[in-house]
Amino acid sequence: MARELSGLLTLADFEHAAESVLDAASWAYVAGGADTQLTVRANTDAFDKVWLRPRALGGSGEKPDTTVTVLGHRLALPVLLAPTSPQRLLHEDAEIATARAAESAGTLSIVSTDSHHVFADVAGSVGSDCWFQLYAYRSRDDVAATIALAEDAGATALVVTVDASYAARRISTRRAGFRTPAHVDFGNLRALGVLMGEIPDGARIERLPLTWDDLEWIRARTHLPIVVKGVLRAEDAERCVGLGVDGVIVSNHGGRQLDGAVPSLIALEQVAAAVSDRALVLLDGGIRSGVHVVKALALGADAVCIGRPYLWGLGLAGQQGVEAVLDLLRSEIEDTLLQLGADSIADIDADFAISAH
Ligand code: GLV
Repeated sequence: MARELSGLLTLADFEHAAESVLDAASWAYVAGGADTQLTVRANTDAFDKVWLRPRALGGSGEKPDTTVTVLGHRLALPVLLAPTSPQRLLHEDAEIATARAAESAGTLSIVSTDSHHVFADVAGSVGSDCWFQLYAYRSRDDVAATIALAEDAGATALVVTVDASYAARRISTRRAGFRTPAHVDFGNLRALGVLMGEIPDGARIERLPLTWDDLEWIRARTHLPIVVKGVLRAEDAERCVGLGVDGVIVSNHGGRQLDGAVPSLIALEQVAAAVSDRALVLLDGGIRSGVHVVKALALGADAVCIGRPYLWGLGLAGQQGVEAVLDLLRSEIEDTLLQLGADSIADIDADFAISAH
């Protein structure tokens, strides 16, 4: 039975409600980051140093247009659902609930290689498009098989994560005694033969560190658009674009990999200045409101991805909970545009923000 969601007025309300229904170890896994969690906090705090500049008497007063086009997909709001796992910690329908919520909100979900459901089942559960996130395991042959799994199931883009090749020091998660419960499991990894037998400790199987050569090889291997996730430097974004990559996600993996990594919002300005005329630029990390979404757009992002916030909704009420999170964000974005004197997302540019970073 879905919990009562109507009293949850901010994403912080969803966070507190989700914490109260999850077991402590699962909460530690979802909420936690690397080491002291400085980057987890800083990702969100960075938004407090960007100020919005409303235009006096701007806008028509009509309901603002929150649509945006991302690699040819027309989305109802500039918010995509980042790849996360294991979603089955939060709800038994896991990625299927998430993909259906994305579809009903008019946006996209990016499904992790480490998903519970095999990608074909997730993609088949919706009529809209899904993107597939690629982790590399074992060998290039396995990477080729993973790409084929995504293509065969109709993925419309490949998101290559480059910042999580190595296990991270997730101290708070370890302190909480987190172990991946048996019911979680990893459908794609079983289908690929990467995982056989019991799930190892720590919810992860050793990954193959990717190199620039690998990225070039992946580019040549698939006709799908490629988005590289985990870029924090302008020169890396340039190099991606030089290899024929279609977009980058400015991300530090939600502060879950390197404690002290630069907050995504601070890295965004330089990355966007370097490549946004040639490639899609997304940002994830720290988004906790519609105001944050609009600040990221003003600093150069074409759209953003959220991770933990939709997991809170998933934990509270499955698909309906994720829909409630997206609905709240959409209405906060509309409100922000109205208050700024902007009629649409397309109106938002650097003129609307002052960064005190
Ligand atoms: C998975 O990618 C995680 O950050 O736990």
